[in-house]
Amino acid sequence: MANFEKEIEAAVEQFRTLITEQLAREEKMEAGAAKKNFDGSEKIVIGVCGGDGIGPIITAEAERVLHFLLKDDVTAGKVEIRTIEGLTIENRMALGCAVPPDTLAAIKECDVLLKGPTTTPKGGTMESANVTLRRELDLFANVRPVSVPEKNIDWIFYRENTEGEYVLGSRGVEIPGKLAMDFKVTTTEGTKRIARAAFEYAKANGKTNVAIVTKANIMKKTDGKFTALCHEVAEDYPEIVAEDWYIDIMTANLVNENIRHKFQVFVLPNLYGDIITDEAAQIQGGVGTAGSANIGDRYAMFEAIHGTAPRMIEEGIGDYANPASILKATEMMLRHIGKIAEADKLARAMQICDTEAKVVVTGNRDGATCREYADYLMETVQKI
Ligand code: IPM
Ligand code: MG
Repeated sequence: MANFEKEIEAAVEQFRTLITEQLAREEKMEAGAAKKNFDGSEKIVIGVCGGDGIGPIITAEAERVLHFLLKDDVTAGKVEIRTIEGLTIENRMALGCAVPPDTLAAIKECDVLLKGPTTTPKGGTMESANVTLRRELDLFANVRPVSVPEKNIDWIFYRENTEGEYVLGSRGVEIPGKLAMDFKVTTTEGTKRIARAAFEYAKANGKTNVAIVTKANIMKKTDGKFTALCHEVAEDYPEIVAEDWYIDIMTANLVNENIRHKFQVFVLPNLYGDIITDEAAQIQGGVGTAGSANIGDRYAMFEAIHGTAPRMIEEGIGDYANPASILKATEMMLRHIGKIAEADKLARAMQICDTEAKVVVTGNRDGATCREYADYLMETVQKI
C-alpha cells in the first residue's frame, strides 16, 4: 500500500481545526444573540437586494408592493425600505467573495432582508451567497410553508439552516486519486433551537403533530443526536405529538394521497430539508410558487426559492418572470415584522388574483409581465 502519511497528517490537523471551530460555534450559540423587537417600539429597516438574472426584475415588483402596503409606516418613519447594492455575480466575481464585505456590512445595518435569487458559479471555490448569508447572519431556521387547500395539504417545514452537511460543505478532505470525505455537524444548541422554533410554531398555530425527519438508522451520531434532542424539546409541548420518520419513506409519503394530508409541521436537518422542500413545492405547483424565510434571533432573510432563470434573460423574456415566490416571501416577511394585517391583505389578494385570473403570468410572452401582475395585485388589495 502506498504511503499517505503526509496526507493523513494534514487531514488530522484539518480535522482538529474543524472540531475546535465548531465547538466554539456551539458555545457562541449557547450564549445566545441579541433579539430585535418587532412590537412597534423600534424602527424597522428592510433591506432589499435584487440578486442576479430575473432576481432584480421580480424583486423590484415585490419592493413596489411593499412600498404600497407600508406607505403609512414609511411616511411616519417607522419603517425604512433600503436598497442594498453589490450582491451581483459580476461584483462578487470581481471581488472574489460570495458576499462582499461592504454589502454584508450594509445588510447587517438592516433588520430583515428581502433577497432575489443569486448565481452560484459551478465549480471553483466561491460559496453560494445564500449559504454565506445564512451563516453570517446566523439564520438557523429555514421556514417553508406549502399549501394546496383543495388537496387538504397544509405543511410547514422547519429546516435546520446553518449546520448539518452545509456548515463544512466546502471543507472536506481528499486523498487525490483515492478518496474524499465531507463532514456533517449536528450540535446540541443548533438542534435545540430549530426544534424549539418548530414546536413553538406548532403550539402558536394549534398544530397537533410534528414530524421529526432524519436518517438516524444510518447517520447514527448526527441524526441520532438530532432526533433525541427534538424529543427532549418535545417534552415541553405535551399537547403535541412528536413522530419519528425516516427521510426516504417521508419522500414517498408526500406523494401518497392517503396519508400526506395528516402531516402538519416538519423539523429536519439541513440537506434533507433542502431536498424535500423542493418536492413539497412541486406538489404545490412548482418551486416558483414557494416562498422561503431564513430566520435567526437578530436577523431574518426572505427569498424566492427558485434560481435566477438565466435562460429567460438570454431569451429576453425576463420581464415575464413569475413573481409569486418572492411575493410569498414578502408576505412571510411582513408577518415576521409584525405587520399581520398587511401580510393578510397580500395573501388574500394573491389568492383572489389566482382565482379570478384576470392577469396571468406564464413565464413567457403569451402571459402578462410581472409588472402587470403586480399592478393587478395592488388594485386587488385596494378592493379588500
Ligand atoms: C435552497 C437552495 C440553496 C440550498 C442553494 C442555492 C445553496 O437550494 O435554498 O434550498 O441548498 O440551501
Ligand atoms: Mg434547495
